[in-house]
Amino acid sequence: MNMEYDACIVGTGRVGLPLGLTMVEVGLNATGVDVDPALRDCVNAGRMPFSEPGYDAIVASKRFQVHASPEVVAKSAALVITVGTPLHNHIETDLAQIQRVLSSLTPLLCKGQLVCLRSTVAPRTTEFVRRFIERHTDLVVGKDIGLAFCPERIAEGKAHEELRTLPQIIGIQDEMSRELATDLFSKLSPDIMCTDFVSAELVKLFNNVARYVHFAIANQFALIADSFGANIFEVRELANHKYPRSSIAPPGFTAGTCLRKDFGMINEWNPYPDMLLSAWKMNEYCPAFLVEHLLRRTEIHNRQVAILGFSFKKDTDDTRDSLAPKLYRYVQRQLPSEIRVTDHHLPARIDESTIGSLVNWSIQEALKDAECVFVATNHTGYDAALRALAQQRPDTWIADLWNVTGKNQVFYQARDLGKEKE
Ligand SMILES: NC(=O)c1ccc[n+]([C@@H]2O[C@H](COP(=O)([O-])OP(=O)(O)OC[C@H]3O[C@@H](n4cnc5c(N)ncnc54)[C@H](O)[C@@H]3O)[C@@H](O)[C@H]2O)c1
Repeated sequence: MNMEYDACIVGTGRVGLPLGLTMVEVGLNATGVDVDPALRDCVNAGRMPFSEPGYDAIVASKRFQVHASPEVVAKSAALVITVGTPLHNHIETDLAQIQRVLSSLTPLLCKGQLVCLRSTVAPRTTEFVRRFIERHTDLVVGKDIGLAFCPERIAEGKAHEELRTLPQIIGIQDEMSRELATDLFSKLSPDIMCTDFVSAELVKLFNNVARYVHFAIANQFALIADSFGANIFEVRELANHKYPRSSIAPPGFTAGTCLRKDFGMINEWNPYPDMLLSAWKMNEYCPAFLVEHLLRRTEIHNRQVAILGFSFKKDTDDTRDSLAPKLYRYVQRQLPSEIRVTDHHLPARIDESTIGSLVNWSIQEALKDAECVFVATNHTGYDAALRALAQQRPDTWIADLWNVTGKNQVFYQARDLGKEKE
């Protein structure tokens, strides 16, 4: 098919932009469409709008441009949809972004194109897309146009490596779609696996939900160990050491835009009791666990508190669905004298919808007078900062579910750091 562009990425956010840039790197002529003017200006000026290592040079080359108008879709052999798919406040997928994209794209579709859905979606959403296309155009999927669901399984911060190494799962239901989708994604990875729509949708959800449950069990074990006065870090190390049938994860705040919402996508069609809701409850309880169990050791009321990390994940600047704001609110209920938040991956002010605009202190300023410290994210650098605190404020209590200092205790005082080396 002779088109100006090999691919057009619709929705050039944290998934779409790395994908488009990688396509350009492998020699495809790719372009993008996004409704966010600030994002477009940033990318078109040659800068990354968020942190994702490995892309600075290719974005600076300005070979991948993002357009405001979807008109460019009509000039592209393949359209890859990577818009957001959040949950409503209830256990229900919010399909609004997908529906808006389909409404704007369908008048521009033409014979021979491939439509590829890459956003994470609930089972049967690709079938909804097929019906939508066939209702609003004269095109028939499999005869005139291709349709595939090709899930994105990268981890944030590892997109550059993983887009070229992870196997690409392709959900298709006809030969034309198989050929078009295989041709496009084989440019990224030689490892292509084809299946039907629903199976491909479930692959993505099962990958994420399995991870979510895996971390929930780790957090549950931390609580159980704590209730017996045992040390979770020691128990985990003993359980995993040279034992081929154990891979217990370390405990830690488990959230983020993907893991939590993807369990909802499975659950909206599942009225039966299941373990996924329990995993949700377990992971959501972790901020309360830290506050409640620190209170068994010391006061928070009228104390100076520091919260280390505000993004949902180590060494990223993504705060979507982070549990840190929840921790902040629980600490706030204890009426401390002040809470200082620090996260060196975020800007000088952190805008949080339920809390407001927060000063993002330097780690030194946040820790200067801190009497209680909560480690909300396991960013690199916190170990050294907390060890320095041991000299300046030895009485300070630290709640560290992530074990960033390697102290192997969830709750300890700064003075205890270093003792393990004596
Ligand atoms: N972030 C991840 O690590 C990750 C990993 C795998 C899968 N996913 C899935 O990928 C999808 C996208 O996630 P994300 O993190 O990139 O979200 P995002 O919010 O960063 O990006 C979505 C982009 O789509 C744009 N957009 C919305 N409506 C549009 C429209 N009508 N036309 C054009 N652009 C539009 C937004 O402006 C935004 O830039 C979601 O389904 C998510 O679950 C995310």
